[in-house]
Amino acid sequence: MVPDEPAGVILDRLSSQITKCRRCTLWDGAKQGVPGEGNMNARVMFIGEAPGEQEDSLGRPFVGRAGKVLDSLLAGIGLSREDVFIANIVKHRPPGNRDPDPDEITACTPWLEQQIATIRPPLLVPLGRHATRYLLRRIGVEFVKITDISGTVFEGEPFGFPQKIIPSLHPAATLHNPLSREHLKEDFRKLGDLISEMENDARI
Ligand code: URA
Repeated sequence: MVPDEPAGVILDRLSSQITKCRRCTLWDGAKQGVPGEGNMNARVMFIGEAPGEQEDSLGRPFVGRAGKVLDSLLAGIGLSREDVFIANIVKHRPPGNRDPDPDEITACTPWLEQQIATIRPPLLVPLGRHATRYLLRRIGVEFVKITDISGTVFEGEPFGFPQKIIPSLHPAATLHNPLSREHLKEDFRKLGDLISEMENDARI
């Protein structure tokens, strides 16, 4: 890496490296990599699990049914995709949308680490249990059930500088279980409150 290289240049280079990544075998069954996208100055970064079918076809994160849910949750707290950065812990689609396995997560997350180190968002929002487990482990926190800890604010230095982490249920949860919708809305209401608080603190 060249010192003081613009963030956009670094992110573009990471995207093309991710597309060619062969660190695990997922690329073999996928159409393409899905590096992530959004505002390179984002204060908030959303981190999902892995691309699904639509994402694999288009090379963009959260553009299928779960993405529609995410868009409407974002709109509910006054945010659009242009305000934030959206990525996944795993960059190639697992076959049949199965859960990513621990080796795949270990092989892939150095890409996410570099994206986070480049954007340096003060707030991380892991969506669902896989992204939450990965991020909370980096600050030494283990959990059993995502529903018990979503909406809770954690603080630490998961990537060597201070960040807040507020986990949420995964937007796809509402597609399988309509009861999750209220839980997810509540997670995003808490997220909206936290963002307002952080904006107020920044103004002081
Ligand atoms: N689910 C995810 O976790 N990520 C996506 O990009 C799409 C669906």
